[in-house]
Amino acid sequence: MTIPNSNNLAEPHPMMPKVNHDEIAEQMFVSDLKTFIGRELEPGQSKLMNNKVIPQMTKARGKAPANHIEVRGEMEKEIDYQAWATLTRTAQEMMWDSVATCVDRQLDKLVAKSDVKNPKGSLTVNPDFVVPRYIDAFDIHCMPGNYHAVTRENDVRQGAVFDRAAAIYHMGRNGGFMNDIRGHTVVSHYFERWPEAKPQRILDIGCTVGHSTVAVAEYFPQAEMHAIDVGAGLLRYAWARAEHVGSAIHFSQQNAEATNYPDNHFDLVYSSAVLHETSHAALPRIMAECKRILKPGGVMVHLEVPGHYSHLDTWGRIRGDFEIFYNNEPFWRGALTTDFKKLVEDAGFKDVKSGFQDATKQAKKGVQGFFEKSKGVHVSWFMVSGVK
Ligand SMILES: C[S@@+](CC[C@H](N)C(=O)[O-])C[C@H]1O[C@@H](n2cnc3c(N)ncnc32)[C@H](O)[C@@H]1O
Repeated sequence: MTIPNSNNLAEPHPMMPKVNHDEIAEQMFVSDLKTFIGRELEPGQSKLMNNKVIPQMTKARGKAPANHIEVRGEMEKEIDYQAWATLTRTAQEMMWDSVATCVDRQLDKLVAKSDVKNPKGSLTVNPDFVVPRYIDAFDIHCMPGNYHAVTRENDVRQGAVFDRAAAIYHMGRNGGFMNDIRGHTVVSHYFERWPEAKPQRILDIGCTVGHSTVAVAEYFPQAEMHAIDVGAGLLRYAWARAEHVGSAIHFSQQNAEATNYPDNHFDLVYSSAVLHETSHAALPRIMAECKRILKPGGVMVHLEVPGHYSHLDTWGRIRGDFEIFYNNEPFWRGALTTDFKKLVEDAGFKDVKSGFQDATKQAKKGVQGFFEKSKGVHVSWFMVSGVK
């Protein structure tokens, strides 16, 4: 069993889909399978590349391969690589299947639980909302129905599936079933760079089910907390989840490229693991929109996956490309070759810094955790931040 914080598997929070004996057995198997593939089989792929594929290519051509794309082409002919890639993709599909089975069995109950009485926050959905093409075109991470499918009235299905699966996807490394380490890490970065800030209005863009929203809200009980994403069902689940854990958040279905918030409205606008899932064309539009809705002096923080291609070796880049071709992350390489510091500076932000923030379960002022170099996946997260 590799899911930490699993002592409360039955109900880490009231909206979390419950599991029966067979379902938890299946989900634990998938989690262990993913761990086994990552820890035991994946290291063999870089050995195969370094000890066989690159030397063979170098010998045949009389020179070393020019880039990881050439090497990937040769790796794809290797049966070991094919087996690893197939297993990795299959484990991902098994994860969604195993979770969807348990969600569908109890969907009526989850929908009933999402009918929150006397909410502290709010939910605003827009029946005319157009999901951006870069989300609509693929089932991102191979999650059937993606972030925005709606299957019934007052639906919460996609949110429930995502919430239960996320702990398995991260193999527990993002804070067990609350999946909130990234939210605490955003605050840790904010505290480190702006220890005196007292935000009154905060926005989380691309909140999904609110994993990072609820975590950030804990630190600023006086603040008005907002969160946006693209799926009505996803947001209904996120809102109900937040209400059930006592967090007052205003969720709404909006595109981060063009929101309906007034100018100069927020003190802090942040995202967590969103930029790599938006198109290259959308990135500057999102930065411009963050700037518009921030107050002068307001702060923008973006947390991203740490595997920027400029820091990766050949195998790291091939592993990154796997996300594009076999995990429906079409913008992975585009985002992770982007100079985010320049992007934010070009949008007109001041005092811009990028680097890596130590992942934390609890943000504290006065702790140094922001460094130039990555300490590894789930150990530190890429951050870029600046001031309007
Ligand atoms: C990997 S998830 C983010 C996870 C979440 N922020 C967290 O920390 O747990 C990426 C999210 O970004 C959202 N997203 C991507 N582009 C968006 C846009 N233009 N407007 C709003 N949400 C967007 C997706 O719908 C998806 O829910």
